[in-house]
Amino acid sequence: APVEVKKICCIGAGYVGGPTCAVIPHIQVTIVDLNQQRIDAWNSDTLPIYEPGLDEVVKAARGKNLFFSTDVDKAIEEADLIFVSVNTPTKKSGIGAGFAADLKFLQLATRRIAEVAKSSKIVVEKSTVPCRTADAMRTILEANSKPGCHFDILSNPEFLAEGTAIEDLFGPDRVLIGSLQTEQGLSACQSLANVYANWVPRERILTVGLWSSELSKLAANAMLAQRISSVNALSAICEATGANIDEVAYAVGKDTRMGSKFLKASVGFGGSCFQKDILNLVYLSESLHLPEVAKYWRAVVEMNEYQKSRFANKVVNTLFNTITGKKIAILGWAFKKDTGDTRESPSITLANHFLTEKARIDIYDPQVTESQIWLDLTDYGDIPAEPIKPHVKISETVEEACKNAEAIVICTEWDEFKTLDWQKIYDNCPRPAFVFDGRLILDRKALTDIGFKVISIGTGDRI
Ligand code: UDX
Ligand code: UDX
Ligand code: ADP
Repeated sequence: APVEVKKICCIGAGYVGGPTCAVIPHIQVTIVDLNQQRIDAWNSDTLPIYEPGLDEVVKAARGKNLFFSTDVDKAIEEADLIFVSVNTPTKKSGIGAGFAADLKFLQLATRRIAEVAKSSKIVVEKSTVPCRTADAMRTILEANSKPGCHFDILSNPEFLAEGTAIEDLFGPDRVLIGSLQTEQGLSACQSLANVYANWVPRERILTVGLWSSELSKLAANAMLAQRISSVNALSAICEATGANIDEVAYAVGKDTRMGSKFLKASVGFGGSCFQKDILNLVYLSESLHLPEVAKYWRAVVEMNEYQKSRFANKVVNTLFNTITGKKIAILGWAFKKDTGDTRESPSITLANHFLTEKARIDIYDPQVTESQIWLDLTDYGDIPAEPIKPHVKISETVEEACKNAEAIVICTEWDEFKTLDWQKIYDNCPRPAFVFDGRLILDRKALTDIGFKVISIGTGDRI
């Protein structure tokens, strides 16, 4: 019979580990992290990440069945099941630099489990990882385990999207669990399935082989990103012809074979997953000697880069081919609305582009902290801040950011940008007053009536 999971440990208290474990009912869950500051924040009134609904869920469970700690070893020892949810960034140097995932954090965590565990454990990989990582984890665990200790490895990729994490976790489209198809593997798979069955309908819990599970995560993200690159590629055609990308996407999405979600043209996709996972897929394809497949997926990322630079160039061209010394307001720094996460945010690319053109930028975001914006602008300290400081301002309000701006650029689709007092903003801008809608959220007619020149992604000038 499958082991009943009574205690869970989650290694890694980040965007994935924190919310994922916070929604688990009844079972004792301890989330551990090496980063003391992060754990302190999880234990405080100001959680380290912003997610709608997260505060309520954490406050209801914390100290009851949910605990945050830096005592990694103790939590490993006590647990029957361990989620490994550490970061797996793209490698910056060495073999596969710029493409392959850096698995050092994952391997360190795996080694720790092997060293500390005194009883058998189910080890679950939750971080997005290249195919066959589970195999590597198994080898490390088996080579380092104590007699009598058995480890079962499961792959259980997380599909939550930031901004809707809590909703996604309480009502997932599916939960995917991959295991070895041995008696032991299938039994471990059932143990984890039983944990989810506390709140997820059984028919939504899919069980597959380890490799299928690992590849499904990369495939899902690659195909989602591909839809955005496809719609963004079409947006360029719209701008050149007079077609309207929202109308095109609506018409296309009405086909039930296609579906209407994830067809919103934008300044480009961001986030910690899409680019990283596609590059992983590219790297995997190349190592499997499938260069045509690699080329196909790489084009999705290239189209995204093109979309960002195309939009930045459009701003420069529209402002009569120079933005030197001009003030540009950037509205939104997060990679999407309802999160404070800025990883791979298109805003960063645009800001760098504007700074290279010697513009002055004024940034507003309702959730991102000033210190985070500086980390992003300096590539976490790799670029000196001093030279750009005179050209960068970070504002507390939209009005302040937009005051005297020669261009207002919407980069994130925050709801509050839809209901701004645009007349008041217009009154404080020089003429002509340009608004660039990188998210297609503004009422074009209302703004044009006020006097703004509105330039949107995927809308031709010949209306
Ligand atoms: C994504 C996947 O959706 C999720 O299943 C996976 O677990 C992690 O990666 P996330 O990156 O958090 O989630 O957000 P998502 O909503 O997918 O948006 C990613 C990027 O695409 C954002 O920059 C968003 O603005 C952009 N996007 C999304 C578009 O430009 N157009 C769309 O139609 C949808
Ligand atoms: C297509 C469009 O579906 C239709 O809306 C349009 O009006 C005309 O073009 P059609 O070419 O008749 O229709 O058939 P379709 O069912 O789309 O199949 C096209 C090809 O794709 C076939 O060779 C089919 O075998 C293949 N296909 C389709 C797959 O290989 N896999 C699939 O999942 C679906
Ligand atoms: P994700 O978006 O995948 O959740 P994050 O970077 O937000 O990524 O979170 C990963 C967390 O994992 C970080 O807080 C990091 O400190 C933690 N971490 C990395 N390696 C270890 C380890 N060996 N033991 C414990 N925590 C770790």
